[in-house]
Amino acid sequence: MSEISELMWVEKYRPQKLQDVVNQRAIVERLSSIVKSPASMPHLLFAGPPGTGKTTCALALARTILGEPWRDYTLELNASDERGINTVRERVKTFARYATQRGINIPFRVIILDEADEMTNDAQTALRRIMEETSRFTRFVLICNYSSGIIEPIQSRCAVFRFSRLEEKDVVSYMTSICKKEKVRHTEEALSKIYELTGGDMRHAINLLQTSAFIGDVSIENVEKTAGISSRSKVSEIIDLSLKANFKEARNKLVVLTEVYGLSERDFLKYATEEIFKLGLPNAEHAAEALAKYDYRLIVGAHPEVQLAALLAELGRIGKDAGYRGSK
Ligand SMILES: Nc1ncnc2c1ncn2[C@@H]1O[C@H](COP(=O)(O)OP(=O)(O)OP(=O)(O)O)[C@@H](O)[C@H]1O
Ligand SMILES: [Mg+2]
Repeated sequence: MSEISELMWVEKYRPQKLQDVVNQRAIVERLSSIVKSPASMPHLLFAGPPGTGKTTCALALARTILGEPWRDYTLELNASDERGINTVRERVKTFARYATQRGINIPFRVIILDEADEMTNDAQTALRRIMEETSRFTRFVLICNYSSGIIEPIQSRCAVFRFSRLEEKDVVSYMTSICKKEKVRHTEEALSKIYELTGGDMRHAINLLQTSAFIGDVSIENVEKTAGISSRSKVSEIIDLSLKANFKEARNKLVVLTEVYGLSERDFLKYATEEIFKLGLPNAEHAAEALAKYDYRLIVGAHPEVQLAALLAELGRIGKDAGYRGSK
């Protein structure tokens, strides 16, 4: 394990075997039976909310089917990082052609394509063709948040697995075992608090557990300090910047807050609403309308990063109308 994955609890405690995945029983059972006769494995489509074990299951599956050299025969791609379907095609083709080492008997190579629902319909149509052309040598595991974002012809070629949010008892008991291994003092209530703040997203929960442990014991007080207050003060900074129409800076800070600190987009909106009303803008009703609009868009599943960036831009206009000069 590399140093960084040793340091990050989410990686350090990522289950290596299907059997160790918490909950998702029905999925683990179906996957375990697929593993028994890999030759007839179809392409797979994993759909579900963040931090519920999709990538973990895909990796564990590859590890079980391909055995020791699994790394050499597994390609992990992120659809939204690749520059387009042509790079995906090139990488998949090169990978599929790459000779198998002599003496190694593997049924196929595994291609894990994360964020497949971020691909345009045209790209997905091209992907479907790639899947067909290379199906003698490869199996795809497509991962997405919403299966509705995947075109029908791909869906119908895949066995679909729906991951659900993890329940409190599962997340709490997983965190308890991590605390034991890391020799971290904690209270039951603090772990429940972490669950409450992260709503069934195990990655987010483990990250919050680690940052709380970083400043001392895992107590309600420390959990709230790391989760709420620190991100809240960052939210107020972002709101201040965006009302001053400093869009670029505000957006950069927002990305750090959601990606590094793991604040969910919904929580960002919640804190943003509180911060904005504290400022007592003369045109607060415009701000309220904007916040409600983006809240709704997030609920119906629009792209959070794009939506929140648009909100920051809109706040810039609202701040200008209000003659806003800064909170300090
Ligand atoms: N069901 C689970 N059992 C045990 N640990 C889990 C489970 N789900 C998530 N985790 C923990 O959370 C981390 C992230 O999980 P994973 O990468 O599988 O999430 P994901 O479903 O792929 O999420 P995303 O959609 O954000 O990529 C893992 O490293 C692991 O520590
Ligand atoms: Mg993932």
